[in-house]
Amino acid sequence: MSKAKSSKNRTAREAQHAYTTCVSPYVEFPLGHGKFIQGDCLDVLKDLPADEFVLAFTSPPYLNAVNYSQHVAKIKGHLKYWQRENISYDEYRQFLIDRFAALLRVVKPGGYNIVNISPVGWNGERVALPFHFVVWMEQIGWKFKEDIIWEKAIARDRRSGVLLQHPYPGYYYPSLVSEYIFVFQKPAPRKDRENIYWNRTAEEKEQNRLDLTHFQGEMSKNVWKIRPLSPQENLHPAPFPLELAERVISLYSYRGDGVIDIFAGSGQTAIACEKLGRRHVSIEILPEYVDYAVKRIRACIAQTRLL
Ligand SMILES: C[S@@+](CC[C@H](N)C(=O)[O-])C[C@H]1O[C@@H](n2cnc3c(N)ncnc32)[C@H](O)[C@@H]1O
Repeated sequence: MSKAKSSKNRTAREAQHAYTTCVSPYVEFPLGHGKFIQGDCLDVLKDLPADEFVLAFTSPPYLNAVNYSQHVAKIKGHLKYWQRENISYDEYRQFLIDRFAALLRVVKPGGYNIVNISPVGWNGERVALPFHFVVWMEQIGWKFKEDIIWEKAIARDRRSGVLLQHPYPGYYYPSLVSEYIFVFQKPAPRKDRENIYWNRTAEEKEQNRLDLTHFQGEMSKNVWKIRPLSPQENLHPAPFPLELAERVISLYSYRGDGVIDIFAGSGQTAIACEKLGRRHVSIEILPEYVDYAVKRIRACIAQTRLL
């Protein structure tokens, strides 16, 4: 695939429009065991081979909670504040359905699609996005497998403070410390091939043996306690921690397998793949985030070579 075109020159403002209506040419950066591609994942996915990846892992853009283009303008000093993006819930639903349907084609039968998602605020209300999302994914053809709660331990919001001010029934707004990690699977044509790892050799299994030292304490349950990143640790406004990506990738793929992240942001999935010896493809629409991710992945590769 080599559609290297002039998308480097696209401004964040142009990319903002691309959020729902993209027809974008794209450029790609080969990196270690994989590549990073700048473009709308809907376009890019159409050019990838079918049944290519064992695992997809991503966190989609959060409805209107983060306006990524304006966030980029703010860190460049062009804007003082960024505002929420004004799109309807229906547009957002279609945006996700189109892209996760395109993803289904490139994942191997029996392969996994793991998605980090959480409820979002919309016109002053909390929207049950994760629960709607599961239904949309099932309608597309993904099979629901697991719901894992990522417990972030640190509460960034102060919702529960309302009860301290008004210690009466009706004032309970718990501080939000969790997000969902949903596991979906692409159905396999034969039941006995649903376990995508059915034909791995004893040697491969041994090479991919998991470290279960902390298994009983934490990993055995569907609540994972993982510290979220602070804004100082990553320039992106909504990164997931490397530890989360590493855990998902180790549990659902073997060394050398192909992993894809269709909303790649700062490149956490690609970095985890480099560290764990997986092949990887990452897609991100905003050139500024692509730049940032590519630098981070190159630094990780350089560091790994020094070890
Ligand atoms: C929640 S963030 C992902 C953060 C990432 N998991 C990380 O750890 O850095 C979602 C990303 O999707 C990107 N995005 C939005 N629309 C896109 C599209 N159509 N194609 C590809 N990326 C898109 C946004 O720019 C944003 O960086």
